[in-house]
Amino acid sequence: MAIVTIPDENRTITDVNEIKDYLESIDIDYEQWQPSQPLPAETTADEVLAAYAEDIDRLKELDGYVTADVIDVLPTTPGLEAMLAKFKSEHWHDDDEVRFIIEGRGIFHIHPPNGVVTAIEVTAGDLIRVPGGTLHWFNLCEDQRIRAIRLFIDPAGWVPRYTDSGMADNYQPLCFGTSYIPSPTVLAQ
Ligand SMILES: [Fe+2]
Repeated sequence: MAIVTIPDENRTITDVNEIKDYLESIDIDYEQWQPSQPLPAETTADEVLAAYAEDIDRLKELDGYVTADVIDVLPTTPGLEAMLAKFKSEHWHDDDEVRFIIEGRGIFHIHPPNGVVTAIEVTAGDLIRVPGGTLHWFNLCEDQRIRAIRLFIDPAGWVPRYTDSGMADNYQPLCFGTSYIPSPTVLAQ
């Protein structure tokens, strides 16, 4: 389940209903999805899309999304650093950024127009929708793993547009979830 932190207020939200209410107040949709049947450890993208077809179709109908795909990021993904560098600075997209996390985790920082910067750590089962035009940035957690369903109205509308504010440099992308096991060197520090 997601963990929401508001660093400037030293506040953490872990209750699912509080998370939904708070994120709604900054115009971010959050849902939790269950697969229509238990998924085996190894699944193809098509099997994943089929398992969540009901929710995918619901959002397509509601918000006009046209395509859905599955993105897989591993520490060994070629060009990973360049890919991550594109998303770790404050930016927006014309299209919504809709992600349902299947495996791994990452942190979205949202910079609402009339609110404080909010970090949302997402993990398996979390659906997040960042509306087009919303300022945000994204980091993977230390294990550099994420597998997610993406929904698009038009993939061309999903190019990052940068603010060049340097805002992201003020916030550390700290993950609190359990998938990251610190090495003995880190623990000894
Ligand atoms: Fe983005």
